[in-house]
Amino acid sequence: MRILVTGGAGYIGSHVVKQLLRAGHQPVVFDNLSVGTLDNVITGAEFIEGDILSPTQVLAALEGIEVVIHLAGLKAVGESMTHPAKYAWNNLVGSITLLNAMIEAGVKKIIFSSSAAVYGEPIELPMKEDHPTKPLSFYGHTKLEVEKLLAWYDQLSGIKFVVFRYFNAVGYDPDGDIKGLERAPQNLLPIIFEAVMGWRDKVTIFGDNYPTADGTGVRDYIHVSDLASGHLKALEYLDKNNNSLTVNLATGQGTSVAEIIKAVKQESGVDFKVEIGPPRPGDPAQIFASADKAGAVLGWQPVFSDMATIVKTTFRAYEQNKKN
Ligand code: WQD
Repeated sequence: MRILVTGGAGYIGSHVVKQLLRAGHQPVVFDNLSVGTLDNVITGAEFIEGDILSPTQVLAALEGIEVVIHLAGLKAVGESMTHPAKYAWNNLVGSITLLNAMIEAGVKKIIFSSSAAVYGEPIELPMKEDHPTKPLSFYGHTKLEVEKLLAWYDQLSGIKFVVFRYFNAVGYDPDGDIKGLERAPQNLLPIIFEAVMGWRDKVTIFGDNYPTADGTGVRDYIHVSDLASGHLKALEYLDKNNNSLTVNLATGQGTSVAEIIKAVKQESGVDFKVEIGPPRPGDPAQIFASADKAGAVLGWQPVFSDMATIVKTTFRAYEQNKKN
């Protein structure tokens, strides 16, 4: 299948494109390179430098496309609160521009990367797809709004979708083929590995007095290659079924900040400096999700999301980027 991957030069996009190629599909990467990098465009994939905010560029890219995988967007939760207009343009207007172009081009299937951020403060754990949605950030709001728009585009224009609510995406390609690191990362794992490499002097744990086993925050960390394999399952689903679906991509397991730091220190042999700081505003103590629906409906299971594989694959990616 010829598949347009918006944001295909990004962290998650590059892993999705790799698996599409391996499964014999023809991915077309559509990316404005504002966050993604050319390093991340996998050999064998077609590349179009373009912006989802440009109706003419999107329409041209949709030529001959059967399914869109829509990953383009901004994802820094904190920045979305200080620069909401950027998030409104890229995540909301960009998605609307893409959906309208899909109608014009007659493309009827989309896989959309949504987020755990649509849920907000957990009321029940593990979080299931019917958990109330009350985003705590403008970023989460933009993802939820696009989910709602998709339901309307389905009803009014027959566009079928699979929405994936990703939990904490981590890890790198187990084959070591994807080497592009995120620029100015804001998430825990890349911050830790920058300390391993000596690119930053310490890691700050945001709070050690949460009601969790060791007092540090707990999250559901999912390997990016497991996220990617979910997209292949979604393609099969959209091929066989004429209906839409919203599912979590998660592991069902929570891991604490302290556990991750310990695992990275062990694997890397680097005893980087760790300090305890105050809790980050808006951070829930723990989040983990049920992945039962993805298993039951899509036949998807995570296989790379154990902490050892996450740490090993990330370490290799950072070693490959060692500055001389
Ligand atoms: C993980 C844990 C921090 C940095 C965000 C979004 C979510 C999704 C994933 C996109 C928390 C702690 C972090 C540090 C720390 N994104 N931490 N020191 O906040 O769980 O989730 O990214 O859709 O929607 O909200 O991810 O990696 O920032 O934090 O102690 O320097 O690490 O408090 O417990 P988060 P994160």
